[in-house]
Amino acid sequence: MTNKIVTLVTGGNRGMGLALIKALHAQGQQLIMGSRDLAKGRAAVEVAHLSDVTVVQLDVTDSQSIQAAVNTIQNQYGQLDILINNAGAAFDHHQRPSLINISSMMGSLTNALDPQSSVYHASAIGYQASKAALNMFTIQLAKELQTTNITVNAVDPGMVATEFGGITPELASQHGAKSIAHGIQRTIDLATDTDNTTTGTFSNTDGPVAW
Ligand SMILES: NC(=O)c1ccc[n+]([C@@H]2O[C@H](COP(=O)([O-])OP(=O)(O)OC[C@H]3O[C@@H](n4cnc5c(N)ncnc54)[C@H](OP(=O)(O)O)[C@@H]3O)[C@@H](O)[C@H]2O)c1
Repeated sequence: MTNKIVTLVTGGNRGMGLALIKALHAQGQQLIMGSRDLAKGRAAVEVAHLSDVTVVQLDVTDSQSIQAAVNTIQNQYGQLDILINNAGAAFDHHQRPSLINISSMMGSLTNALDPQSSVYHASAIGYQASKAALNMFTIQLAKELQTTNITVNAVDPGMVATEFGGITPELASQHGAKSIAHGIQRTIDLATDTDNTTTGTFSNTDGPVAW
């Protein structure tokens, strides 16, 4: 058990997940890194000198892996205050319950239909459909939980220079992707908002994003 806010970041071994872990760790939260490859997660923690970050094996498409991670967190901390669904999945709550789904502008139905939008010409059908589904999950769960103190929000990081999609961060930058620090800022704002009253929103660093 700990008095700190306990935060799990899925897909935490690299990219924005790892950056979120570093940033929230620096804010005094107790971080749990979900990594589908335990060795990769442990290596990431070692390189980043984050010895007090707990690494759990967590493949968000594998229900056994999810249940084992829940058990580990339950046994070790007895609580989970913030879940950042950087890779996917759904968990539970305690004193400061907050679920943050890392979505994307690419999942916005409104922007997909707007010829003026930067994503109007995008055609990653599977990815866009998965983020649109994540957005609907966010809306419905936020409504279902509106009489509780559990908040549920979706965040658009923008186009960020990571290895996402199998390219290099350098190439992504050349195509206009922004820094990881910029990409995680809205998530950090939500995860460190002590009021924890914002719920049912889809937003980025510029403000609300159309669903
Ligand atoms: N980069 C962008 O421009 C951008 C824009 C909008 C939204 N996003 C969203 O931001 C989130 C993070 O992306 P990123 O840019 O940081 O990408 P990244 O560098 O490719 O990192 C993705 C992370 O997700 C993990 N992952 C993938 N499938 C998983 C699974 N089934 N179970 C558990 N972990 C899994 C990866 O693990 P392995 O190391 O094992 O592969 C890795 O740790 C994603 O949800 C993405 O859709 C990114």
